[in-house]
Amino acid sequence: MIVLGIESSCDETAASVVAAHPEARGDGDIRSVVLSDVVHTQEVHAAYLGVVPELASRAHAEKIVAVTRAALDRAGVETPDAVAATAGPGLIGAVLVGLAFGKALAAGWGVPFVGVNHLEGHLLSPLLEDPPPAFPFLALVVSGGHTTLYRADAPGRYAILGTTVDDAAGEAYDKVARLLGLGYPGGPVIDRMAARGNPTAVDFPRPRLKANPMDLSFSGLKTSVAQHVRSPSPAAPDDIAASFQVAVVDVLQDRVARAVADTGIRRVAIAGGVAANSALRQRFADWSDIDLYLPPRSRCTDNGAMIAFAGRTRLITGQRDPLSIPVRPRWQAGTP
Ligand code: KG4
Ligand code: ZN
Repeated sequence: MIVLGIESSCDETAASVVAAHPEARGDGDIRSVVLSDVVHTQEVHAAYLGVVPELASRAHAEKIVAVTRAALDRAGVETPDAVAATAGPGLIGAVLVGLAFGKALAAGWGVPFVGVNHLEGHLLSPLLEDPPPAFPFLALVVSGGHTTLYRADAPGRYAILGTTVDDAAGEAYDKVARLLGLGYPGGPVIDRMAARGNPTAVDFPRPRLKANPMDLSFSGLKTSVAQHVRSPSPAAPDDIAASFQVAVVDVLQDRVARAVADTGIRRVAIAGGVAANSALRQRFADWSDIDLYLPPRSRCTDNGAMIAFAGRTRLITGQRDPLSIPVRPRWQAGTP
């Protein structure tokens, strides 16, 4: 089954075509190969130091046809067997553009349609790599809007082990970048600065939560960076970046270590924009207690391949959505 996937939940307009992997055995095998993966990152938001929802919707509407056309052309596919599009979570107007366009294409071609959970897209994205993690595995989804640790038991069956009670990890990067007077998105800039800085220059807190020690919190960390920046003699920006970053990575590693101990599962997949972070990648790669599954950087940040793939895994088990499905701005992964 050849599936076109469309993503428009935030500031990336993306489309991709995936098909059965050459080694897939039978129609029920989810193993897939990416035939094309086209991502257009909106630049209008940089000047505002954050994503402006109305501008995002408009830019998606302007680019969606060209991006989708390019994905089909590069794949050499005229009409796919089905269409998948992100239905949430995300910015309501932004999601609406890709969802409505995906539905319209499916209706025009007369092929099945499925709405995809963006977080499930991230969570399953490590399965596009070789080798893929076998189920069950632990999946840490660290993005701009979400930071959640799941136990993935099977496609569509995910248990939340811990989640952030306030800011997402990517959001913390973006807010700290703003505090330091840097641009948007903050993650890549801080990543580069941190490489030049001293991670032990400032001892920022590693928050722990009493209610559920698996949960995470990043707003206290962000506040202490703000207080440090305003203090009479703050460290150099590179050192602040490095010290902030090592605190984030420490906290993430701590929660994964607990989950490995609690579940006995040592297969760990990491996905979402913050999984592109150099320090995080290095730390987890060097960690001999786990078997790490980490997509390349371009598959960590938002892309269409993860949506096409998550859609394909649902479509091959027979799921179809009516064209009446709504945008679900706060949809949790693993819930119907
Ligand atoms: O997954 P994603 O592209 O979009 C969402 O679903 O949110 O994640 C975007 C987030 C942004 O907050 C961005 O600052 C962060 O991922 N990010 C990074 C890096 N690259 C992107 N954070 C840390 N280090 C990076 N290299
Ligand atoms: Zn995302």
